[in-house]
Amino acid sequence: MKNLVAGNWKMHLSPREVAGYAGRFAPETANLVGTVDLLVCPSFPALPAAVAAFRGTHVAVGAQNMHQELSGAYTGEVSGAALVDLGVGWVILGHSERRHVFGETDALVLAKLKRAHELGLKAIVCVGELLEERDRGETEAVLRRQFSESLGGAGPALVTKTTLAYEPVWAIGTGRTATPETAQEAHRFLRGLLEKALGAASEGVRILYGGSVKPDNAAELMAQADVNGVLVGGASLDPEGFAAIARAGA
Ligand code: 13P
Repeated sequence: MKNLVAGNWKMHLSPREVAGYAGRFAPETANLVGTVDLLVCPSFPALPAAVAAFRGTHVAVGAQNMHQELSGAYTGEVSGAALVDLGVGWVILGHSERRHVFGETDALVLAKLKRAHELGLKAIVCVGELLEERDRGETEAVLRRQFSESLGGAGPALVTKTTLAYEPVWAIGTGRTATPETAQEAHRFLRGLLEKALGAASEGVRILYGGSVKPDNAAELMAQADVNGVLVGGASLDPEGFAAIARAGA
């Protein structure tokens, strides 16, 4: 299975910065075609510029969130149908910042996942424990709950088409990366949940690691048996650094 190296730009990089980024990142990674899958996820206003800048390249474009309804009186929200209209192919769902800063629940993430699949958007569903949950020894219980309630309810056919991302909340934006062994342990656990839910089809589902991934730790993380790529925040904002992470995943 090829690794997926995905950049979550969060609320960074304005529309006018996208073309410059693409002009540096696409050529840096052109020789990796076929060896690693690449994705960038800009903020909503920067999506049209990203779709235009990466058109015809090996770099896919995704959104960081979407609403579960197709349209309606939802001021300030963005429909998945509008994303498809723009030419966006992917969407991140249930990121820890959505869950913990904006109060998204497992049930909401599941509703968004169903809608994303219905629209043909490829979804990355994020799971991960808080530091206090890890300290209380609840990591597996949290992952099991998030897995079954934000994904499991979608049914095997949908789960097979979904990408999972393990992002321990204590490792996001803190510089405190999970060690490759800690990451592998959680990924192995998630792989077991996938096997139970999907049987042999689980082998095709990628599990990305996210949380302070940098050019100098990406290779050892992706060397782990059940780490099938990375979801990169801060380090994806620098095109040369992100290209180095892409090379580590190739
Ligand atoms: P950092 O790489 O900045 O820790 O962010 C990780 C993340 O949240 C990716 O979705």
